[in-house]
Amino acid sequence: MSKSQSVWVSRPLFPEVLASLAQYVDVRTEAKETKRTPEQLHKKLAEVDGAIVGLSDRIDAGVLAGNRRLRAIANLGVGYNNLDLPALTAAGVLATNTPDVLTQTTADYAWALLLAAARRVSSAERWLRAGRWRGGMRFDDWLGVDVHGKTLGIFGMGRIGQAVARRAIGFDMHVIYHNRSRLPEAVEHECRAIWVDKAELLQRSDHLVLVLPYNAQNHHAIGADELAHMKPTAVLVNIARGGIVDDAALAAALREGRLAAAGLDVFEGEPSVHSALRELENAVLSPHIASASADTRRAMAQLAADNMLAALGYGPSAGHPPS
Ligand code: DGY
Repeated sequence: MSKSQSVWVSRPLFPEVLASLAQYVDVRTEAKETKRTPEQLHKKLAEVDGAIVGLSDRIDAGVLAGNRRLRAIANLGVGYNNLDLPALTAAGVLATNTPDVLTQTTADYAWALLLAAARRVSSAERWLRAGRWRGGMRFDDWLGVDVHGKTLGIFGMGRIGQAVARRAIGFDMHVIYHNRSRLPEAVEHECRAIWVDKAELLQRSDHLVLVLPYNAQNHHAIGADELAHMKPTAVLVNIARGGIVDDAALAAALREGRLAAAGLDVFEGEPSVHSALRELENAVLSPHIASASADTRRAMAQLAADNMLAALGYGPSAGHPPS
């Protein structure tokens, strides 16, 4: 039966999620994920009532210009810096994101990067795979920095930051954090975390995890100045967004031994990665996969689909049966 509303899904998604959407709306899918130009996005959005998009789809006033049909955008992610919210509001388009479902998985991954960078896991594996392990175990080689018992700094103490902090309890760490506003005392107590100003966070952290949202104020929140205030033995982890760190300044600090190591899941201008970072053995690099467990990506996709249906007035909560 033909459906009255259409939804464009900008990238391949789980078949069962698409099927749940297709009960209510006409679903237009894409066989592969690709970076589209504003003109291409404009054309896609002109033909539908809703769109499920991701970080690489920048939805702004130009893309929305003249569109009288679009009613909702469901973003596949908790971060939504790819959406120009004032432009969406002006166009009367509802925007949704996928908080909560990815919190624990993303916090797990912050720890994967932190441990891998501190203990040189990627670099050691590359060396071993290259067949360079010949002379037994050298006692004074492959020395990393300890994690347990150290001071963990968290910059951005929302849901994910708090989940990162809770995991530090098992590592007997001292947790300090910086956030625009202090958390309620009960939450600080539960996370065993102490608020400090940004300068103290940079100076005291043995390991610093970035979990703040990207916006104009946070552009290069970690740049050359900030890096100069960190310990040369420190490890920096970015699971937040590219652009929060000045990647060129970070590469220089890592190369010159002013910072011990970094674990990076996000980059300025990704998918391209600064060539200086790619050359460094003390940088662990991954392609924006912090939320990429099978369960979590499925939950994110389903939440985006449910958000879309609710925004278009379908689904169980709207009491509207499939057509
Ligand atoms: C998020 O949810 O914000 C992740 O970074 C994926 O974009």
